[in-house]
Amino acid sequence: MKRIGILTGGGDCPGLNAVIRAAVRTLIRDHHIEVVGIQLGFEGLLTRSIVPLTLETIRGILPKGGTLLRTTNRGNPFEYPQRDGSCVDRSAEVVQNIHELEIDGIIAIGGDGTLRIAQRLSDLGIPMVTVPKTIDNDLAATDYTFGFQTAVAVATDAVDRLHTTAESHDRVMILEVMGRHAGWIALYSGIAGGADIILVPEIPYRPRAIVDLIEERQGEGSNFDIIVVAEGAKRFGGEETYLDKATRRLGGVAYQVAADIQNHIDMEIRVTVLGHIQRGGSPIAFDRILASRYGVEAAQLVARKEFGQMVALRGDRIISVPIADAVSSPKYVDPNGDVVREARSLGISFGDGL
Ligand code: F6P
Repeated sequence: MKRIGILTGGGDCPGLNAVIRAAVRTLIRDHHIEVVGIQLGFEGLLTRSIVPLTLETIRGILPKGGTLLRTTNRGNPFEYPQRDGSCVDRSAEVVQNIHELEIDGIIAIGGDGTLRIAQRLSDLGIPMVTVPKTIDNDLAATDYTFGFQTAVAVATDAVDRLHTTAESHDRVMILEVMGRHAGWIALYSGIAGGADIILVPEIPYRPRAIVDLIEERQGEGSNFDIIVVAEGAKRFGGEETYLDKATRRLGGVAYQVAADIQNHIDMEIRVTVLGHIQRGGSPIAFDRILASRYGVEAAQLVARKEFGQMVALRGDRIISVPIADAVSSPKYVDPNGDVVREARSLGISFGDGL
């Protein structure tokens, strides 16, 4: 191994720079391997956009949000989009460029989509190691993806802030958080912020159950309510809510929840959609440490030539699992699991009437 490429793919996430820094430091200091950064994810392997990653270029990036290498969630080389809306397979170009750029292996940091592309390149003989990234925390192969805890901290802060204004105005405040088809950010921030109702994709909601809970609280003398809703949540028997149906971009379910209940309660409702604030900015300490550990272990896998693997957290240990296993097993909130049960014991409703 003489020269290793690092890329970040898919949506950005707090902690990407911490992984890059850790992998570069380990590869250079422990193994004397040259490192290059591939810009804009796999796209950079088509445009041959590479930059040197040295101890100098990575200095000071540990606490910075975003990614030094930039990223995109378009540009899958196996289904590369054309102007006319069709797709072509450009993976052969990618393989050729990797060889011509004399890149001996790649560390790809990304979520579900990036892992799938990495697996396919690995099947074509490219030595790949991956690092799981997503604020959604929806990969079963690892206890936590880095970035998730930062997103939860940001969402929890939003719940805290909504609490004080809700209480002052006697209002129902609905906060929509990200998470794609998984309710982890809503569940964790809802518990941490003391929400009254948490709506997640895994537990379809019934508007009547939300109204009942609000009335019950009014009967107990509570003059406000906090609802945290995951962007992928849906009504019982209903569909997910899209900002853009064609691209299946989720968003706006909080407005649907407001419309579902507004004629049945005598309180004002306000909606906040937190959006990309959850993805931007500096990672919290937990994610800096996890990202750094992932970066070190990804570099060690490369040095040991253990390719086709993804680093993962199991308990307190960093292990590695085949990329193929990681992409085939998403992780969703278990409606009958401990965390949901404990939340119910705290008096939190999931809008299902239980
Ligand atoms: O997967 C991370 C995520 O932030 C999801 O929670 C969200 O649905 C999606 O990405 C938003 O993607 P984009 O940045 O393309 O709007």
